[in-house]
Amino acid sequence: MLNNFQYLMDPNSYKYLWLCLLFSCQVILCKEISTPSTDKNINVLNECQQCKVLTDSFNYWFKKTSRGKYEGGDVAWEEAKLKTYARSEVRLVEIQEGLCSELKANKDQCYSLADVAENVLENWYYSEDHDTVNLYTWLCIQKLQNCCPLSHYGESCSPCPHNLNNEICSGNGKCHGDGTREGNGTCICKSGYSGNLCEECAEKFFSENASCRPCHAACAACTGESLDDCITCSNGWEMQENTCVDINECALPQVCENDDYCINQEGTFLCEKCDDSCKTCTGPGRKNCSTCRESDILISGMCLNESQKNKIVNDAKKRVLTYFGLLLLTKVTFRSSKILAAVVVLFSSFYIYHTEDTAEVPSIDLYMQSSELP
Ligand SMILES: *[C@@H]1O[C@H](CO)[C@@H](O)[C@H](O)[C@H]1NC(C)=O
Ligand SMILES: *[C@@H]1O[C@H](CO)[C@@H](O)[C@H](O)[C@H]1NC(C)=O
Ligand SMILES: *[C@@H]1O[C@H](CO)[C@@H](O)[C@H](O)[C@H]1NC(C)=O
Ligand SMILES: *[C@@H]1O[C@H](CO)[C@@H](O)[C@H](O)[C@H]1NC(C)=O
Repeated sequence: MLNNFQYLMDPNSYKYLWLCLLFSCQVILCKEISTPSTDKNINVLNECQQCKVLTDSFNYWFKKTSRGKYEGGDVAWEEAKLKTYARSEVRLVEIQEGLCSELKANKDQCYSLADVAENVLENWYYSEDHDTVNLYTWLCIQKLQNCCPLSHYGESCSPCPHNLNNEICSGNGKCHGDGTREGNGTCICKSGYSGNLCEECAEKFFSENASCRPCHAACAACTGESLDDCITCSNGWEMQENTCVDINECALPQVCENDDYCINQEGTFLCEKCDDSCKTCTGPGRKNCSTCRESDILISGMCLNESQKNKIVNDAKKRVLTYFGLLLLTKVTFRSSKILAAVVVLFSSFYIYHTEDTAEVPSIDLYMQSSELP
């Protein structure tokens, strides 16, 4: 206690405190400094996504500048002014200056496409009806041809595969390249669905109310979600009386390497290395050995060399001697006082119980094994 107190008061210890503080600050600072470089900037957008980002940004600035700077005064005059402002060069310059600058991610890609599309954007701004001609459709799908309309894919914007109800991939998946000039249009089904149109349930799923739900893990095919609904069993399970039962692989011969032990799990099993002291074993730790290396002896599941064995035997002998001592003490005290003797017996029992419980090998085990000990 005194030592601890002195340590706290020791001016030297503040050095370490400062070092710690400095270190933590650096860790925090480094984190802050290094985050921008691992930013979303790395995620590379496809051409259609780039165009979407650009038109979103354009629309953002278009809206932001919509009211112009003419405020107050004569209403009619202002309306006329606003009308000219709506397509004025002043506003366009303002939009172009802001374009892409508000973005947190993908800024560079936005700027470079903005360069390429500058003239086309101007065309839309000066010539198209701002209220009815959607910039995204006009620019990304029609002019730049970076995107396709929704539910279309590929270079020529072919329609995505759909079922008789006109649901793309039966409503259970996405069409590869949907809305872009890329992709091959194949259905990428949600988990649980399969087939060209995602119209079937995938393996290990069953159909219910026109949707697919997972089977019990034990079933390879099923009619419902319970274990009793299995039609066939998954690997590691076998059919018994109309239900799938876990196979205990550990009961089979030679599932694991010789110096491994086996742990059975639902549907599978694990092989784990035995403790270094064992040659073979039945479980973890140094007390689950089943056979030992060359000169070692197996005692209570432990592999011990000659000197370790001797130490354990000697320890046990000493303990047993103490117990006899206690017995003797009981006998002596019994003559003078029965109450005192009872206390000694109580104490002895607790003592023996505790000592044997914490002993590496209980003496009774040693005694039982003594016939086998060399
Ligand atoms: C379509 O593209 C996906 C993803 O690249 C690929 O897995 C699939 O095999 C392609 N399908 C055809 C028919 O080319
Ligand atoms: C499926 O439909 C039946 C009858 O219409 C209903 O009782 C059941 O709850 C439905 N199951 C699910 C998972 O929606
Ligand atoms: C011996 O292995 C069993 C499992 O087989 C385990 O429950 C037990 O804790 C292990 N004993 C020791 C002392 O590690
Ligand atoms: C017995 O094993 C212990 C621990 O592994 C080791 O320290 C000791 O040297 C060994 N004694 C003999 C005689 O091999």
